[in-house]
Amino acid sequence: MSVVIKSESELDVMRQAGRINAEVRALLRAAVRPGVSGLDLDRLAREAIAERDAEPTFIGYAPGGRPPYPGAICFSVNEQLVHGIPTEYKLREGDIVSIDLGVTYRGYVSDAAFTAAVGDVSEEACALMRVTEEALELGIDAARIGNHIGDLSYAIGRHAGSYGIIAEYGGHGVGRRMHEEPHIPNKGRPGTGHKLKTGMVLALEPMFAIGHPATMEEADRWTVRMRDRSLSAHFEETVAITEAGPEVLTRIQ
Ligand code: MF3
Ligand code: CO
Repeated sequence: MSVVIKSESELDVMRQAGRINAEVRALLRAAVRPGVSGLDLDRLAREAIAERDAEPTFIGYAPGGRPPYPGAICFSVNEQLVHGIPTEYKLREGDIVSIDLGVTYRGYVSDAAFTAAVGDVSEEACALMRVTEEALELGIDAARIGNHIGDLSYAIGRHAGSYGIIAEYGGHGVGRRMHEEPHIPNKGRPGTGHKLKTGMVLALEPMFAIGHPATMEEADRWTVRMRDRSLSAHFEETVAITEAGPEVLTRIQ
């Protein structure tokens, strides 16, 4: 499979899908506080997406014989890395929570995530979140015509310092489907992989952990956690490669 190049009119729809994603994420972020459950946030996301005439991309997603994903969001707490199924678990002061959101609008997908503090959190949790978010910014800044996928991976991975870089998951192309070519590892070598071209749309998603980078799946077949139960963080944006430079579609400009 090869990388899909979007036309200007497709990009326009993707901009709308991205804007809705940004609006709903802002509501989710504002709702994060002690006592709020994953299911509360999932309900909020469903309602806000429906009000905007869009659909939650993740519901029913079932790659490779997995049970269909039941949530509109992923809700991954502390040592949970990604793909956490929203449950009745209520956030507690000191937790960090990663919330991932896919929005489909007129057949096009936007995919973005953030990790947030619940009340006051430890300094080590703050540092992990800050560095992971900075790595995303560095990746975005490298998303320029003429660079290669390996340059993005390198920009992200070199910022990890002593944090574990998760190897099993990474970024990806996005468009009519949530996961398109190419896969974008969170570490790599400059000058390798596909060359970036106008009209490519990529979801960049650094994931770092305080401990060892090995992960495992929980019994629900979806939730991924760090094997050593160390804290992990995840930030993601959908980015279009344009003549004018990287355009982050999942942010309100
Ligand atoms: N941003 C996540 C990814 O690219 C979204 C996963 S959605 C789920 O893997 F449906 F698989 F949970
Ligand atoms: Co993604």
